[in-house]
Amino acid sequence: MSATVRKLQPVSSLNASGTRPMVGIEKVTMAFGDFVAVENVNLAVGDGEFLAIVGPTGCGKSTILNAIAGLLKPAVGAVSIDGATVSGVQNDIGYLFQQDALLPWKTAFENVELGLMFRRVGAAERRDKAMAWLEKVGLKGFEGRYPHQLSGGQRKRVQMAQALITEPKVILMDEPFSALDIHTRHLMQNELLRLWQEDRRAVVMITHDLEEAIALGDRVVVLAAGPKSHIIDSFPVDLERPRNVAEIKLDPRFLTLYRDIWASLRGEVEKSYARR
Ligand SMILES: Nc1ncnc2c1ncn2[C@@H]1O[C@H](COP(=O)(O)OP(=O)(O)OP(=O)(O)O)[C@@H](O)[C@H]1O
Ligand SMILES: [Mg+2]
Repeated sequence: MSATVRKLQPVSSLNASGTRPMVGIEKVTMAFGDFVAVENVNLAVGDGEFLAIVGPTGCGKSTILNAIAGLLKPAVGAVSIDGATVSGVQNDIGYLFQQDALLPWKTAFENVELGLMFRRVGAAERRDKAMAWLEKVGLKGFEGRYPHQLSGGQRKRVQMAQALITEPKVILMDEPFSALDIHTRHLMQNELLRLWQEDRRAVVMITHDLEEAIALGDRVVVLAAGPKSHIIDSFPVDLERPRNVAEIKLDPRFLTLYRDIWASLRGEVEKSYARR
């Protein structure tokens, strides 16, 4: 894995509709030595589409996300972002990790401006943008705090600002809210929807939480239990936006979707437990 190489070559993959996807995953197999985690995955995420991926633990969700980010290389197949093949770590993505990924020795402000520093943006512009983003995520006045002086939800807000400040083409999220209590999680989900709604970008979000997947996503994709995990189902979520995550769960269509997707996911979750 190289952190410096970033060669982009054009690829010609098109959607069924003939438009080019923002994220293209074509015949991708991911392996760790002899262990094949993911086999022959094909997936296209449109510009502005919010895609949620669900699947049993250990099936390869994070592995797929890391392939999009260019952190892992497919054994077979290719990933593209905006038509360019991914080879090496990507600049065009914002990555929201499950665990706290803030630098503990830097303040909220310094953490948020990091991505702009790496892109050699001048100090004045960095300051303006970082302060604006801290305000957008509800942390005005907290810019001088260190991560240990912030709550879990506040740290997540800093991470959100950190991931979005560079205006990435694609936002990757790996169970970003799973460590939060249920009330904070709802707040953060609504906050995320608000920010995304303002400036729609392609999102690929992984979650264990089927309610979260339906409440946030335009589409929910179900992965099979591993090894050799693959996509077994894809469900469009035809619920209006803007959405409120607490209210949407009361919509009868939400319940129907939940039932259908759970029927697909349940068997895989059971297989995954049986194999362990
Ligand atoms: N670096 C690695 N070396 C060897 N095996 C790995 C490595 N990373 C992941 N795996 C294996 O690949 C499979 C998929 O892992 P991955 O982390 O993608 O699963 P996941 O779906 O994200 O699981 P979870 O929901 O628990 O986060 C697992 O069986 C895991 O043990
Ligand atoms: Mg994972």
